[in-house]
Formats: sequence, structure tokens, C-alpha cells
Amino acid sequence: MCGIVGIVSGLPVEDRLFTALRRLEYRGYDSAGIASIEDGAIVRRRAEGKLINLGRVLAEHPLNGTTGIAHTRWATHGAPTTSNAHPHATGEVAVVHNGIIENFKVLRDELMARGRHFESETDTEVVAHLISELVEDGVSPVDAVRQTLPRLRGAFALAIMFRRQPDMLIGARQGSPLVLGFGENEAYLGSDALALAPLTRRISYLEEGDWVVLTRAGAQVHDVANQQVTRAVVDSGVSSDTADKGNHPHFMHKEIHEQPVVVAQTLRSYLRRLEGTISLPIPEFDLAGVKRVTIVACGTSYYAGMIARYWIEQFAEIPVDIDFASEFRYREPRMENGGLALFISQSGETADTLAALRHARGEGQKIAVVVNVPSSTMAREADLLLPTNAGPEIGVASTKAFTCQLAVLAAFATNLAFANGRMNAADVRHVVRHLAEAPAALNAALGYEDEIRTVAQSLAEARDVLFLGRGADYPLAMEGALKLKEITYIHAEGYAAGEMKHGPIALIDEDVPVVVIAPSGPLFEKTVSNLHEVQARGGRIILISDYDGIEAAGAGCHATITMPKVHPLIAPLVNAVPIQLLAYHTALVKGTDVDQPRNLAKSVTVE
Ligand code: F6R
Repeated sequence: MCGIVGIVSGLPVEDRLFTALRRLEYRGYDSAGIASIEDGAIVRRRAEGKLINLGRVLAEHPLNGTTGIAHTRWATHGAPTTSNAHPHATGEVAVVHNGIIENFKVLRDELMARGRHFESETDTEVVAHLISELVEDGVSPVDAVRQTLPRLRGAFALAIMFRRQPDMLIGARQGSPLVLGFGENEAYLGSDALALAPLTRRISYLEEGDWVVLTRAGAQVHDVANQQVTRAVVDSGVSSDTADKGNHPHFMHKEIHEQPVVVAQTLRSYLRRLEGTISLPIPEFDLAGVKRVTIVACGTSYYAGMIARYWIEQFAEIPVDIDFASEFRYREPRMENGGLALFISQSGETADTLAALRHARGEGQKIAVVVNVPSSTMAREADLLLPTNAGPEIGVASTKAFTCQLAVLAAFATNLAFANGRMNAADVRHVVRHLAEAPAALNAALGYEDEIRTVAQSLAEARDVLFLGRGADYPLAMEGALKLKEITYIHAEGYAAGEMKHGPIALIDEDVPVVVIAPSGPLFEKTVSNLHEVQARGGRIILISDYDGIEAAGAGCHATITMPKVHPLIAPLVNAVPIQLLAYHTALVKGTDVDQPRNLAKSVTVE
């Protein structure tokens, strides 16, 4: 959700800022811009739309400055136009921002009353003016920022550049991520370590409320109370080639195909295959004392949480509550002592999930976090960190992070059940054996891509699509609908198969394809009854099941997709593959932008 980057150097920065923006573009692609200082003046290049447009502008009008800031935007306040593109600047100060300044209207009115002229509709421009006003009055840049930050409400990661101090940048962080990087005689700011990877792996993570003065010699960090502090310099562990599509046409395709490898990589940290046991990264964490689990997440991560609820209730027999983070945080639920709050997030930076985490902490809960970015804010605030080792996920639609979350959650639910005496060692060995088969089963599922591509041809013509499933396949149905909506813009709904007759069955006619996820297992017969109800009303069924399921219920379906037969525990991981590939190939038929669908961005750091 907006990416920012800044470089202080003795050498030209334009190319390197642009490369960093390319690695941040997944965070937003409504517009992009770069500013640097040339001949004693702030110079900007900005363009609406994707980064490629900014590339064209820079090709015609290059920048030669040796200090610069850059931005890729996901619009919140103001349309995605060039005049709303960051950096926002006065003659003295230029600013890039990720987040929302919630009190910008008050500040803007105040500034306008003092005669300041605004050229954009953004919330960000007030920051440039507030700092500029002070600098123009002779206040030093550092003092101007120090005085301005407490006036800003909301969330921000900022990089600020000053005309009169071309060898310095100031960064600030509150509620949005910001990373410092250190090179040879130069220093960097960025929204994440991935952006800085081609520049350096030596980085520091800023804490909430930190602000930093960056020069070529290094960084001076101050905390929220303006005390000078030291933040550890660590190896980011991110390689500079990770943002590469390889031989795949899209990141999403690459990430779908990486699933066997990254799920295996993830499971390796949890499963002791030879012993037939599961160990969590903090073995001494007291799971036996957990009396209630509250799961909170957004989007795809929320659907992974819904699947985990079935597992925790079935295996560990512990009550589970689940909510969208955006609802949970404002419900401000009271929570009993002895509870475990479990947060699931690919990025570890989603604003609503992070706020929910802090609410749960305030309610005395132990905090467990399933997260893909080990250096993220959520990871750092967890009592029990449960990493998914999916590697960077660049495609905006989440795929491999989802299946890795499921792998971790299955291991976690099993461990919880064992700690609570609801599973014995033999039960755990049984789960370990099946989980260990997941990578091979995912690989087998990917082998059906041609079949799925053919089905996608017919899906592309639909205006509405329904996805149905029962049990753990119900959240999977919602995930299937979300994937389709996100990247094809076809309206889709995921429903619990048994709920159809309570209303949605009225939607059924021959124009509405219905994707039914019904692997063999205890709920198969029930789902097939619902399938027949749809068929009897002329519905066009696309059945996703295993060989036995297709044999039993495939007759009369418009299309069938055969998945490998697996244990019900790992079926949601395996059946994630066809719903991801269905969305992907339907998007290809429709010609939509798979990796950067309209209106979306990854890492939602605004509410
Ligand atoms: C959908 C998708 C989103 C995210 C959601 C939460 O494909 O990617 O729904 O799952 O924005 O993001 P994280 O997991 O980073 O908290």
C-alpha cells in the first residue's frame, strides 16, 4: 500500500531509485514519482499509472541528483492523477508518504488560512507544507520535522528531502513500515527490505514512532520521545534476485508453481518426520494452558484462519472465535485471561490486523502470529512466531502464502491438540505422515493445469460465478471466489453448500457456473446432494474432486477437475491449486492484468 524509497549518495540515484520502485510496485501502481536535488533546486518527475509511464518520462527527462526520494502510489485521498502523484513538494521540501494523515483537512485549512497554496488533493501535501513553513522561517530541517511529527494523526512512513541540505534525508515511521539500509558511503530508506536488496543487505528496522536523520555517513535514530536510540543492524537475508519471474509469464503463475517447494520448505521447520512429531519454533510456549483461541486476519489470510478453526475445534476441541480484523478492532471485544489470539498475515504489516493484535495484547492474550515476512511488525510483536517460509510473494493475489499458512496452521492445531491431551503420539504421527505428503500432492495437482485451462475458457464468459463447499471447503470456496473477483473482475460468491437452499439458489440458471469443491471424505455425500439441487435447476456445475468423487458425482456436470486423492486434512491445500489456476487462466482469457489487478495493492497498511 504505497511504496517509498530514499537514497543519500555521492553518485546519481535515479536508476537505483527506479529499480527499488520496481520491487515496490506490488504495493500500488496508481502513479509513481521521483524527486532529487539538482543545481540547488528540488526537481520532480511524476507520471500517473504504472511505473513504466514514469520510466518513459525519465528517459526523456533524466535526473542527475545524488540524493533522492521516490514513491509508487495506491490512491487513498485524491484520484490517481499526475498532480496527486508523490513526491509532494514546496520549493524547500519534498515528501513521499505511505499511510494516511487522518487530520489532514484541519491542517490543510489551517495552512491555507496562512496563505499556503496546495496543488494536489492528497493528505500528504500538508506534511510538505508544515515542514516547509518552518524551514522558510529559518528553523533547521531536523527541528522542523521534530516539531511537525507530533501534529500528524494517523499512519505514516515518510521520507523527506530538503533543498538546502542535499546530503541528508529524514525518515519517520508511525503505523507504516520503514527500513534503513547502509551501503559504502551512502544510506537508504525503504518500505521493505526487498526494495533495498539490490543496494544492501545491511538494514535496521525502525520502531513505532522512530524518526531518523540519514546522511552518507549513516543514520541517527530518535525514538518517539526524541531520545537518540540505537537500532540493531541486521542482515536482511533477502537476495537481490528474488523479485524475478523466471520462466513464468506472471509472478502469480510462478508463485502457484512454487507451492510444492515452499510448502515443503515451510513444513521442514515444523515436522520431525523421522520421529513423527511436530515442534513449534518456541517449544517452551505453554499450549497446554490455552483455553480459547481467537483468530483474526483479513482477506485470504482470514480464509486460512477459517480453515484452521475447523482443525482446532476438531483436533484440539478448544473453542475458537474468528473475525475480520477490520471488524474485530472496532468491536473491541473483551477477552478472558488464558486465551491465545492468533493473527495470520502474509505481509505482517496489514494495518487492521496489527491494530487487532495490539487490542488483544491489551486484553491480556498471548499473541501467536503466522506470518511470511519474518522482519515484519507483527512478527516482532509476537509471543509465538510461526513463520511461513513462502519467500517473497509479489503477485497481488495471494497464492503460495495461503497454502504455506495452511501447512503451518495444520501443524499448530495438531500441536495444540497434543499439548491438551486430545491427540496421542500415534495420532500426531498419523498427521505428520499426511502433512509430509502435501508437497507431492501439490505437485500432482499442478499437473492438471491443461485441464483447468480448458475449463477457464467457459468461465471467462460468465457474469457471475458461485463457489460451493462444506466444512473446510467452505472457506476454500470463498477463497476461490475472491481469487476470481480479484484478477478477472467477474462477480463471484463463495457459499456454504448447505446454505444454498436458504436463498442463493434463486440465482441459479444456465448462465451461472457453479464451482463445487467436494473431495472424498465425511462431507462428500452431503455436498453432492447440494450439487444435485443446483443441477436440477439447470445450474452448470464445475466439480473439483478426486477420482472417486468424480466417478460418483461427475455425471451431468458441465466440467470436472480431477485432483489427487489425499487425506481430508491436506485436501484444502491441494484444492487451493485448481481454484488459483482457474482464476489465473480465466484472467488470461479476459486479458486482465494478473499481477497488478485494478484498484488493489499488496500489504494493506491503511485502514
Ligand atoms: C487476496 C489477498 C488479500 C490479503 C489481505 C491480507 O489475494 O492477497 O486478501 O490476503 O490483504 O493481507 P496480509 O495477509 O498481508 O495481512
